[in-house]
Amino acid sequence: MIRAIYPGSFDPVTFGHLDIIKRSASVVDELVIGVLVNSSKDPMFSLEERVEMLKEVTSDLDNVRMVSFEGLLVDFARQEGASVIIRGLRAITDFEYELQMAQTNRILEPTIDTMFLTTGLEFSYISSTIVKEVAQLNGDISHFVPHDVLKRIKEKQPNK
Ligand code: COA
Repeated sequence: MIRAIYPGSFDPVTFGHLDIIKRSASVVDELVIGVLVNSSKDPMFSLEERVEMLKEVTSDLDNVRMVSFEGLLVDFARQEGASVIIRGLRAITDFEYELQMAQTNRILEPTIDTMFLTTGLEFSYISSTIVKEVAQLNGDISHFVPHDVLKRIKEKQPNK
């Protein structure tokens, strides 16, 4: 039984995240999406909203569940009984940071490995911040986020 963690802030979840979620859920037995309580970022969506959006967009995947966490990722993975951490690589610029995280996590907890999936090419330029910026400037974000997420972003900007 392989249980994996896919961690992130998901503020909000985008098609790029969803691509990684669907593909990794098809190769592991259970995927736990770890939603970070991140005090260093000023989120648009509360933790509860981020979890709700993830639930909505993954409702067709029966081996995926959401759990919020704070503190060290490896502690969370251990607590969930996960042996794998999933990360998406969008471009070469992600690589150095991801390598550093994977190596550090492996030193902290040698029984947990990081597996990388390359993000679909069509999503390789997306970040949650870019999506929020385009929305704030009244751009069309339907290419980047699922409909439910788009609706919620619009609700946060009632005068747009
Ligand atoms: N498609 C689209 N966007 C993606 C993406 C993908 N496949 N993968 C990442 N992104 C975006 C994210 O939306 C995020 O955008 P934002 O910065 O505008 O919010 C950005 O790329 C960075 O993503 P990521 O590196 O996953 O950051 P994160 O904040 O979402 O998650 C953790 C980072 C949770 C993995 C990391 O902070 C962590 O492990 N924290 C726990 C503390 C810890 O253990 N620290 C020691 C680690 S060695």
